[in-house]
Amino acid sequence: MSEKKTVVIDLKFARREVDEALSNAFAGRTVLRAADAAADLSDARYAVIWKPDPTLFERAPKLEVLFSGGAGVDYILAMPNLPDIPIVRFVDESLTTRMSEWVVLQALSHLRQVPAYAKQQRERVWRELTQPEAKDLTVGVMGLGVLGQDSVAKLKIMGFNVIGWSRSKKVIGGVETFDESGLDEFLAKTDILVGLLPLTPQTRGIFNADLIGKLRQGGALGEPVFINAGRGGSQVEVDVIAALKNGVLGGASLDVFEQEPLAETSPLWSMENVIITPHAASASDVRALFRNAEAQMNDYEAGQPLRHVVDRTTGY
Ligand SMILES: NC(=O)c1ccc[n+]([C@@H]2O[C@H](COP(=O)([O-])OP(=O)(O)OC[C@H]3O[C@@H](n4cnc5c(N)ncnc54)[C@H](OP(=O)(O)O)[C@@H]3O)[C@@H](O)[C@H]2O)c1
Repeated sequence: MSEKKTVVIDLKFARREVDEALSNAFAGRTVLRAADAAADLSDARYAVIWKPDPTLFERAPKLEVLFSGGAGVDYILAMPNLPDIPIVRFVDESLTTRMSEWVVLQALSHLRQVPAYAKQQRERVWRELTQPEAKDLTVGVMGLGVLGQDSVAKLKIMGFNVIGWSRSKKVIGGVETFDESGLDEFLAKTDILVGLLPLTPQTRGIFNADLIGKLRQGGALGEPVFINAGRGGSQVEVDVIAALKNGVLGGASLDVFEQEPLAETSPLWSMENVIITPHAASASDVRALFRNAEAQMNDYEAGQPLRHVVDRTTGY
């Protein structure tokens, strides 16, 4: 049997988590750390990366496959001197489940008026607010990939009417779906908009005043709500803030921002109808990441095709 190929790790994750996960991963392989400046990476064939150092590709010129530490790969495609080798994105049940938990939590939080009740609690006000049911609301999910489709299924379990939009039309039982050309029709039916899109040249700035202005007004919540956990570069934050201020949007839940961390000066922090999480909707589990990468390396060396390879022409 041929020798197992060398792996280099360059993950800007918590060091302790990476160390712990590595103690049980990549059996029989040499594993190098890019953070070790003295490490000789010249024979490394695989890199498992999240926001790697720009020097990685110079130090490791024989790489054959890149494994992304996250589902999104926009940060890789923007790297200078990116070698023309397959990029595998991270697809895993734990990542998918965590994202759906976050999406359902946010949709329910706006349905059940969590921001308004949190304010009342701070002010010691005992007042019941009128309450629509999930079935009275249409949640429109933009991006029907691995994450979008799981969120759709779990939002439906909670009773929401769910519709979806993606580049190519999808067939999902019990869900009205739209392709690129049906965007306006999709938006006109949407009370709660969920963004689960990758960041590409086509999706950069897509959540702007024009799009937000096409969401349904006068639904069961009054004004529409915007939820985004895709990428911050897809939202035009000044437009989101203006829409929240002038009542075009009734609320928002944002996990991703144009610039991260979100500046302390951002007005979003203090808006009462806005829920903010620090790009934490679905963090990668490093053990699962290594398990996935290791299985794919073994399959690849056995002549099997790689799975979840990024299409560089579409950018995801
Ligand atoms: N906040 C977090 O913690 C976190 C965690 C993980 C991932 N993410 C983000 O979530 C994104 C989605 O992940 P995923 O695994 O679901 O990706 P995916 O499986 O690649 O799905 C992407 C979806 O977006 C659609 N899409 C892409 N470009 C489009 C365009 N220009 N117009 C319309 N639809 C378009 C695709 O359409 P087709 O189906 O037609 O291809 C597909 O349905 C990632 O790229 C990442 O940025 C965030």
